[in-house]
Amino acid sequence: MAEIQNVGVVGCGLMGHGIAQVAAQAGYEVVVREVDQATLDKGLGKIDKQLARAVERGKAEQADADGVRARIRGTLDYADLSPCDLVIEAITEDLELKRAMWREVDGIAKDDAYFATNTSSLPVIAQAAATSRPERFLGLHFFNPAQVMKLVEVIRCVTTSDEAFGVGVEFTQTIGKIGVQTRDSAGFIVNRLLVPYLLDGMRAYEEGVGTITEIDEAMKAGAGHPMGPLTLSDFVGLDTLGSICDVLFDEFREKRFARPPILRKMLAAGWYGRKSGIGFYDYSGEAPAENPGLVR
Ligand code: 3HC
Repeated sequence: MAEIQNVGVVGCGLMGHGIAQVAAQAGYEVVVREVDQATLDKGLGKIDKQLARAVERGKAEQADADGVRARIRGTLDYADLSPCDLVIEAITEDLELKRAMWREVDGIAKDDAYFATNTSSLPVIAQAAATSRPERFLGLHFFNPAQVMKLVEVIRCVTTSDEAFGVGVEFTQTIGKIGVQTRDSAGFIVNRLLVPYLLDGMRAYEEGVGTITEIDEAMKAGAGHPMGPLTLSDFVGLDTLGSICDVLFDEFREKRFARPPILRKMLAAGWYGRKSGIGFYDYSGEAPAENPGLVR
């Protein structure tokens, strides 16, 4: 099996920064690429914060945290991905953007490098086909926060070779995650089951079954979930959720995957959840409070 030493991560946002951190924690040399310095600094700043928190809580030694950080190099230049053995994509959930990005990376990466997409729902084959190496392409779907969540869905598309799939499985093990194999079907396992549940949480709210807080508290206390559906929707990002449900709806044409009207209105208002400071909750105060615009 090919040996992976250098890992490239494209995108240093919500998922990319976490993927870069877990890879560096496992000893890989990581190059993470962003589109502009401000976005890159924001993502690397999150890694610094997580590492400092681990040291503060006695979960890591300062020297180890420094070692992890030293293995992560930020860049704006695709050319810096040239030494990478594995490149993982974690950019916006937009197929055309992803395909354009892969065409760029394909021209720079080593011939024997493997490519993986962290897409949450888009067909892996649609990205693999944009490269000159569809047999070296697979899906590695991480969960937010990538530093904490144990699962990585390892997705084989129709062109993925056994070798490339094996590299993905082995990489997942070396970073301490649980790899579950899935087929290249929209939403894979988790989002196919989770997204309709989150959308149902929104519909329950729209129909007045409970308040935002009541729905969340009920699912935490009654079903043992760490976050209620509306908190989790804000956490995932309502824009990302909107893109995922569009892909699922296109694929399956089932109402349970369709955007509920409240989600449409919130996206039109620019309320993307935690990342924009407001979603089902307003995050501007000490503790999250129900979004007053929704309560009216
Ligand atoms: N980044 C890194 N580490 C984080 C973190 C973050 N954003 N948030 C929390 N942590 C770490 C903390 O450092 C802490 O680590 P420690 O125990 O080693 O000190 C640990 O997680 C627990 O954190 P807290 O005590 O602060 O908070 P909680 O116990 O409430 O846990 C949570 C936070 C892990 C986020 C928990 O609420 C949870 O599991 N929520 C559900 C998350 C979930 O379902 N994610 C999947 C979303 S779906 C998805 O990602 C798919 C995509 O395609 C859309």
